[in-house]
Amino acid sequence: MSDKKPVFKPNKEFAKNANIKNMCEYHDLQDKAMEDYEGFWGDAAKEKIDWIEPFTNVLDESHAPFVKWFDGGKLNVSAQCIDRHLDSRKNKAAIIFEGDRGDIQTITYLDLYKHVNRFANLLKEDFHVKKGDRVVIYMPMIPEAAYAMLACARIGAIHSIVFGGFSSEALRDRIEDAEAKVVITADGAFRKEKPYMLKPVVDAALEGKTPVEKVIVVQRNHEDVEWVAGRDYSYNEMIERKSSKCEPEVMDSEDPLFLLYTSGSTGKPKGVQHNSAGYILWAQMTMEWVFDVKENDTYWCTADVGWITGHTYIVYGPLAMGATTVMFEGVITFPDAGRPWSMVENHRINQFYTAPTAIRVLHKMGEHEPAKYDMSSLKVLGTVGEPIDPPAWKWYYEEVGQSRCSIVDTYWQTETGGHVISPLPGATPIKPGCATFPLPGIMAEILDPATGEKVEVGEKGYMCITKPWPAQIRGVWGDEERYVKSYFGDVEKDGKPVYFTGDGAVYDEDGYITITGRTDDVINVSGHRMGTAEVEAAIKKHSNVAEVAVVGKPHPLKGEGIFAYIVLKSDDGIADEVEEVKAINNIIKKEIGNIALCDDMVFVSGLPKTRSGKIMRRILRSIAKNEEVTQDISTLEDPSIVEKIAAMVK
Ligand code: WTA
Repeated sequence: MSDKKPVFKPNKEFAKNANIKNMCEYHDLQDKAMEDYEGFWGDAAKEKIDWIEPFTNVLDESHAPFVKWFDGGKLNVSAQCIDRHLDSRKNKAAIIFEGDRGDIQTITYLDLYKHVNRFANLLKEDFHVKKGDRVVIYMPMIPEAAYAMLACARIGAIHSIVFGGFSSEALRDRIEDAEAKVVITADGAFRKEKPYMLKPVVDAALEGKTPVEKVIVVQRNHEDVEWVAGRDYSYNEMIERKSSKCEPEVMDSEDPLFLLYTSGSTGKPKGVQHNSAGYILWAQMTMEWVFDVKENDTYWCTADVGWITGHTYIVYGPLAMGATTVMFEGVITFPDAGRPWSMVENHRINQFYTAPTAIRVLHKMGEHEPAKYDMSSLKVLGTVGEPIDPPAWKWYYEEVGQSRCSIVDTYWQTETGGHVISPLPGATPIKPGCATFPLPGIMAEILDPATGEKVEVGEKGYMCITKPWPAQIRGVWGDEERYVKSYFGDVEKDGKPVYFTGDGAVYDEDGYITITGRTDDVINVSGHRMGTAEVEAAIKKHSNVAEVAVVGKPHPLKGEGIFAYIVLKSDDGIADEVEEVKAINNIIKKEIGNIALCDDMVFVSGLPKTRSGKIMRRILRSIAKNEEVTQDISTLEDPSIVEKIAAMVK
């Protein structure tokens, strides 16, 4: 029997009008990039960006891995996303917002222009925010979150969005690391028809010494909140008085646009820095290629603006190309698992982009829900954040896409700014679970870390990108060395360090790329990146915890769940353990947020360590999965511990 995966060819009718119509067109683009890399990117940048002043140099690698793209160029990202559309699209919907309770707002490009300009004036005039200042945004999924981002971009301030599910401690760390002077938040928002709160989290994060001088509060749910006089200001009361005209700040191509904190394998989260021109160029190009959005299309990405997917594919990418982007406040399974499909019907959604976790949940809760709605508008379905498993893929393809839509399994990261490996919906024959090929212009290769050579078919290697690309991370905020070490320290090709994603991958006999998952101690819970070190650091704050090791364990809905092995200082039996679990969970909630709660916690008498004290996580991963431990345990300080732990887990 052949183990060849089935191949799904793009719909012919769709392909006829697609931006990239077949694999020949794909190869032509990729060949052009290979033959004349700077020519390829230079032409794209000239064509796509409305430059205030043209760039003089395409790529400067002289200080690699610190690179400069489009040097000499001047632009403003908010103008790229708004102003340039006003002639032809002023009455077109830029954002369609659907609230949790079904309330809908349509914001045209002209409306967006006014909102963003007013917000920019507010930041500038009333809060003295200047070019280069950091502004933390801690917001629910409401249009004002997008206005806030674009207002920062307009005046050259650097925004750093913190996902609304993070706790006050996590928020405090990010505020302090970025030395933010202003926080933009909301009283809260609605979830499952009930109000929930964000402002109290901000209040807690700002207790004690803080770099934050002012807090701007958008009223969404109109619940009562504490008000600190002289620090907190109401957006709703101030905004109407502001002028709807604010000249965009003239920015250099390499001026920072935003920071976004993400987990690494060690230490605190890193402030991933993205700069202006390269980022916005690739956000726009990938929207056009990967989602194939046309002028009259309505596009919906279900991510939260607190993650990179929300940055690039709810706000910057769609708006840069002049598309209509849907923003959703609620929970996709509320009031039932038909919610997204009723939204597809109501808004006539053409492209739908979500995470495999969401697909698995929607499948489980409402296998035949899609059939109850008119799904005929859909053309492209996307997935992101983790590998998609075959049953989820099949359901997505057959039930949601009615075996008509292309599925784009987009592989990328916070650090890549936009997609790097993905099918093109009108061109690429798709194999389920496969991210397929690098996008044109992206020199992605699976390398053997020992030799720097491309791996053979079927051999697992490191997913690397061997040439700089415009939307790549420009630095880790305040830590040059960490940037170099984290991304350019593992693999060299032809004697030169290359960017390593942290993921393993494999080629099949047709050259298709399948991502096999992280090679480091980062786990992927419901498509969210979580550093095991961060969860361990939180658990260690409990006074009765002596040692802890956290690993990922396959989870049927979340992809991976968090599994913690804990050694207590005093172990007084099971009754206490119930209390300890509660207490530890409370600490995790406080330090990181609910997203980091453990699925499993086991109390063990010791951890498997080498004689030099290194915890052997591979062994712990095997035990968590209930797999036989096949690793060599003879080098352990106490080999008998493995059996003891395994017995506890069973
Ligand atoms: C994983 C999310 C398999 C991967 C955009 C990566 C994926 C991490 C895929 C980045 C995919 C993302 N298939 N794995 N299509 N997309 N990943 O920074 O491990 O939150 O390194 O960015 O998610 O997560 P991040």
